[in-house]
Amino acid sequence: MGKVQVLDHPLLQHKLSILRDKNTGVKEFREIVGEMAALMCYEATRDLPTEEVEIETPVALAKTRVLSGKKMAIVPILRAGLGMVDSMISLIPSAKVGHIGMFRDPETQEPVQYYCKMPPDISERQVFIVDPMLATGGTAVAAIRILKEEYGCKSIKLMDIIAAPEGIEAVEKAHPDIDIIVASVDERLDDHAYIVPGLGDCGDRIFGTK
Ligand code: URA
Repeated sequence: MGKVQVLDHPLLQHKLSILRDKNTGVKEFREIVGEMAALMCYEATRDLPTEEVEIETPVALAKTRVLSGKKMAIVPILRAGLGMVDSMISLIPSAKVGHIGMFRDPETQEPVQYYCKMPPDISERQVFIVDPMLATGGTAVAAIRILKEEYGCKSIKLMDIIAAPEGIEAVEKAHPDIDIIVASVDERLDDHAYIVPGLGDCGDRIFGTK
């Protein structure tokens, strides 16, 4: 059974307040999305397996621990998810990156995939799907389904900076095995599926498109 982890670390809460502020400019917004992704990645990787090795320090032999070969992949949901990738790669330099692009069909409201490119061995990797905003959950549910059914992924975590309760419920219902890691669960969605109070359109604020 998956779990929902709300990371209420003071550094994350402080940075999130800056993201929420409508007066925060593109440069700072982009930097802080990256910083939050790195801090969240630190927690999301807490349960990675390690193994003991022996190394020689300048002073003596030491029994110490290293990651035990679990390969990882970061999968940003385009486009806002891109803002979380670089800082995660700086912590996990061997991670591969897959991309998934989806838009919502204006008539059916269903997510439609328009781009998908994954590392060939992604089924063997611990996958972190990243998207700053978990709103209705439609895109996340579809992305997880694609990774499971089309790519055979067995180990997937979902990392979002802000989630709406509706989004968490949708992912938990469709994929009860998935761990969800967020920095905040906000109040609700508005009539346009924006998270309230949220931070507005995260893609526009990262890329300065509004
Ligand atoms: N995507 C965003 O960028 N913001 C929201 O509030 C909801 C979805």
